[in-house]
Amino acid sequence: MACHGATGIFHGSLGRKRMGFLVLMFLVLFSMMAFHVQRQWMFVRDTTLLETLECYRLQSGAKKNNCSSLTDTRSWTRNETVIKDIQEKVKQFFDPRSNISLLQSQVKPGDRIWFLESHLFWHPSVTVSQNFHNMLPSRPPLENKHFRKCAVVGNSGILFNSGCGKEIDTHDFVFRCNLPELEGHERDVGTKSNFTTMNPSVMFTYYKDFAEPKLKERFIKRLRRLEGGILFIPAFVAKSEKHHVQWTNDIILKHNINVRTAYPSPDMEKWIRRYWKSTEYRVARPSSGMWMYTFAASLCDEVHLYGMYPFDIDRYGRNIKYHYYDPRPFATMYGGHDMPIEFQVFKSLHEKGALRLQTDKCQASR
Ligand SMILES: *[C@@H]1O[C@H](CO)[C@@H](O)[C@H](O)[C@H]1NC(C)=O
Ligand SMILES: *[C@@H]1O[C@H](CO)[C@@H](O)[C@H](O)[C@H]1NC(C)=O
Ligand SMILES: *[C@@H]1O[C@H](CO)[C@@H](O)[C@H](O)[C@H]1NC(C)=O
Ligand SMILES: *[C@@H]1O[C@H](CO)[C@@H](O)[C@H](O)[C@H]1NC(C)=O
Repeated sequence: MACHGATGIFHGSLGRKRMGFLVLMFLVLFSMMAFHVQRQWMFVRDTTLLETLECYRLQSGAKKNNCSSLTDTRSWTRNETVIKDIQEKVKQFFDPRSNISLLQSQVKPGDRIWFLESHLFWHPSVTVSQNFHNMLPSRPPLENKHFRKCAVVGNSGILFNSGCGKEIDTHDFVFRCNLPELEGHERDVGTKSNFTTMNPSVMFTYYKDFAEPKLKERFIKRLRRLEGGILFIPAFVAKSEKHHVQWTNDIILKHNINVRTAYPSPDMEKWIRRYWKSTEYRVARPSSGMWMYTFAASLCDEVHLYGMYPFDIDRYGRNIKYHYYDPRPFATMYGGHDMPIEFQVFKSLHEKGALRLQTDKCQASR
């Protein structure tokens, strides 16, 4: 009996059947939780794609400097058939011309909106305030829009000293990710901004929640540089960012900043994910760069990508910063997105003539 000392309590008070039930319940809960974590944070790695990846630092710290397989932009030609096909396919899931933002007519003050983030027993929500309702566009910001040549500019350190600024500014419509710094980098990244995303967390990561007045000034100055462009704020991703969204809205109103705000529906992530799932590519949790490309692909005849380079060495073996504008060390977690896989997807689309992926300095500055 001594051996059963510890479990004897359960046998005595609960009985075998109930014990079995508890274990079963525990297993069910555990697998639900594991599934949840998996869905939120893990990637389905397509290893056949990764095998072709030749340009990254190995975990041992040694460089794997064989970037000869990077994209060649000089011999690139666009393939009309492939481009049209993508445009048709995206349309089956959503159309950025009508669905890029929630509209005033779609919600009213007092309505509840559920965040994208969801937990096992808890799905956070927010009530639409009168002020927020006023910030929603009354008409779709990209209604009936069509552009010939678009640039989608990521923030990779590959742009540092690239001299791509002039080339980027020649595009009719320029997308930028996460309110990046332009000042002092115009030669490399240009100045044109027609559609800029802003993850509300940048207010903490780059503006330190306005710990000093000059940081607030810098933020206001940065918003002013959008000069009437669209500011796309994924406001319904995480509830913890609610106050950052609120501050941004207050600043835009109080300082009379000339931007057109867009707040994607919390369903946007689902639409984009479904589109990619319908393709031959595996993109488990599309990053904002992937979102921008998906928008551009359906709005533009020709899409050129810059600064989408998730590796820390370039084709010449030089070290690459994480972002062209900040000294932060290179991160390989990529905020829960699988950037190397996304890069491979872009590279494959480049080779098919669907988009042009710039992974080198620009012509003029070579
Ligand atoms: C470098 O990459 C090319 C193209 O992918 C490949 O053919 C070659 O074998 C690689 N060289 C080394 C040393 O890994
Ligand atoms: C465009 O792509 C399609 C489908 O991949 C292919 O059949 C066609 O030959 C390509 N056209 C050109 C001009 O390369
Ligand atoms: C996109 O907008 C159109 C027009 O407002 C609407 O009919 C459609 O349902 C929207 N699509 C999705 C996926 O919500
Ligand atoms: C894009 O933005 C620039 C200023 O950054 C502006 O001059 C240009 O007219 C905009 N283009 C479109 C199509 O809105």
